[in-house]
Amino acid sequence: MTAGFDSVLRGFRILPVLTVPDPATARLLAEALTAGGARGAEVTFRTPGAEHVLKTMAAHGGMTVGAGTVLTQDQAERAVAAGARFVVSPGYDEEVIAKCRELGVPVVPGIATATELMRALRAGCDTVKLFPAEPLGGVRTLKALAAPFPQARFVPTGGIDISRLAAYLADPAVLAVGGSWMASAAHLARGDYEEIRRLTAEAMERSTP
Ligand code: 3PG
Repeated sequence: MTAGFDSVLRGFRILPVLTVPDPATARLLAEALTAGGARGAEVTFRTPGAEHVLKTMAAHGGMTVGAGTVLTQDQAERAVAAGARFVVSPGYDEEVIAKCRELGVPVVPGIATATELMRALRAGCDTVKLFPAEPLGGVRTLKALAAPFPQARFVPTGGIDISRLAAYLADPAVLAVGGSWMASAAHLARGDYEEIRRLTAEAMERSTP
């Protein structure tokens, strides 16, 4: 039986989503995130160097690192081989879920509708990523979607920033909140690790009761 995503999270509720163009910067990024108090991060498979970034960040220690934007079984395999402790998908894909089960790694499928949520629950995934959370209607949509499914836990992601964080975290159905606002493409392009540390620390502070 694969451990759940919640046990991998160990209580942390902020999930920086990282799309890293230059794998050589992974160590600096890991240092900035851990200095800001991050205890986990999602490295997306949207760049050719994602595996290298995952390996470097997993080896850095101090953070539980998973893979995001995992669309295929092959990516799931490569992610886990590189050290991913969990797998996130933007959508619901049975093949990705089956592969993650086989690999023994928690998987968080993306959902945007009640139908997709029902499929995910039936497949045994009780934690789902509400994606893209803000364009879908934000907290209001999350509450409406969560109401018939009290067993479901959500990791809303997509268009969320510090100004909206508290409203999501206050919802009991929300396990954690994901987003790139702490380490955006612009921050990474500028190499602004001090700002990444600051924004991470700010998010961590807001997430601590
Ligand atoms: C993701 O991959 O989860 C999202 O693209 C992150 O969304 P954001 O960039 O709007 O925070």
